[in-house]
Amino acid sequence: MKIGILSSGGDCPGINATIRGVGKTAITHYGMEVIGIHGGFSGLLNKDTEVLDEHSLSGILNLGGTILGTSREKGFREMLTSVDQEKSQCIIQAYQELGLDCLVCIGGNGTQKTTNLLSEHGLNVIGLPKTIDNDIWGTEITFGFDTAVNIATEAIDRLHSTASSHKRVMLVEVMGHKAGWIALFAGMAGGADVILLPELGFNPEVVNEAIRERARKGKPHSIVVVAEGVKLPDKRKATDFLTKEIEEATGIETRKTVLGYIQRGGNPSPFDRNLATRLGGYATQLIADKQFGRMVCIKDGEISSIPLAEVAGKLKLVTPEHDLIIQGKRMGISFGV
Ligand code: F6P
Repeated sequence: MKIGILSSGGDCPGINATIRGVGKTAITHYGMEVIGIHGGFSGLLNKDTEVLDEHSLSGILNLGGTILGTSREKGFREMLTSVDQEKSQCIIQAYQELGLDCLVCIGGNGTQKTTNLLSEHGLNVIGLPKTIDNDIWGTEITFGFDTAVNIATEAIDRLHSTASSHKRVMLVEVMGHKAGWIALFAGMAGGADVILLPELGFNPEVVNEAIRERARKGKPHSIVVVAEGVKLPDKRKATDFLTKEIEEATGIETRKTVLGYIQRGGNPSPFDRNLATRLGGYATQLIADKQFGRMVCIKDGEISSIPLAEVAGKLKLVTPEHDLIIQGKRMGISFGV
């Protein structure tokens, strides 16, 4: 059997570990041939590939990013949904010309959607979920998330001391466009006083009051963790507004830190390396068993798989009933609503 692997969408720590997990299992255990496709789905169209072997798969377990490169795939997905069937035919032809028996697509929500479309066009595919945002439907956790939470938590830890020295409010913006998983987990692990999630929205007066209340109790410094997807009614990001608003409303100096791409770069945590390795190995097992059109996932703590059709177009969001939110509220942490 000959399999292709590509990574698509935003990168995250653990992609190389999963490429290695797929590739080494395929070569060593199943005797398959493996090619890496460069730059995401565009590399499939251009047949821009390299042979992956024991040598190229060595020394990449702990590397951040992706050795294959990646790209956003909107244009490619449009080709698959176009009424002009010649466009999707080009893709099918490229897959056939590469002599693939299966294509493994490593990516986030958009990638799972595209991979499902490839499956609907009759190609043998497997989806592998990755994102620091942890928002892929159908899996309890994605690799990249643990690393990002570690990075964000360390940053929050560091902000505590400077916040208390200067008696300031420190507002930290973390990634999470639609889902607040990083904000919730890093905020709770970092001992934040206010945590704002896109799923819950926020009321500025509730945030201000939480900070004033701390000051009344003799704690004039506070840490406010805000997911980047928390928006104002006019859809602008809330971070800048809140920094100014908190300072004006509470009279406490307020500073902003945007963690940005630091959360996505660098080495994966040991947890993410092992998760990525397990998911990659299981993807290869699915291929050997000819269980195509599925995404590898974690269900009830175990490795499993789910039809791509069930995943496509859905998001896994934080719900107000999440036990970390309930526990946080019981401890006096404000969620801004
Ligand atoms: O990887 C997910 C994510 O980090 C989101 O939280 C963020 O909105 C997005 O990627 C930004 O990525 P890019 O600038 O690469 O499109």
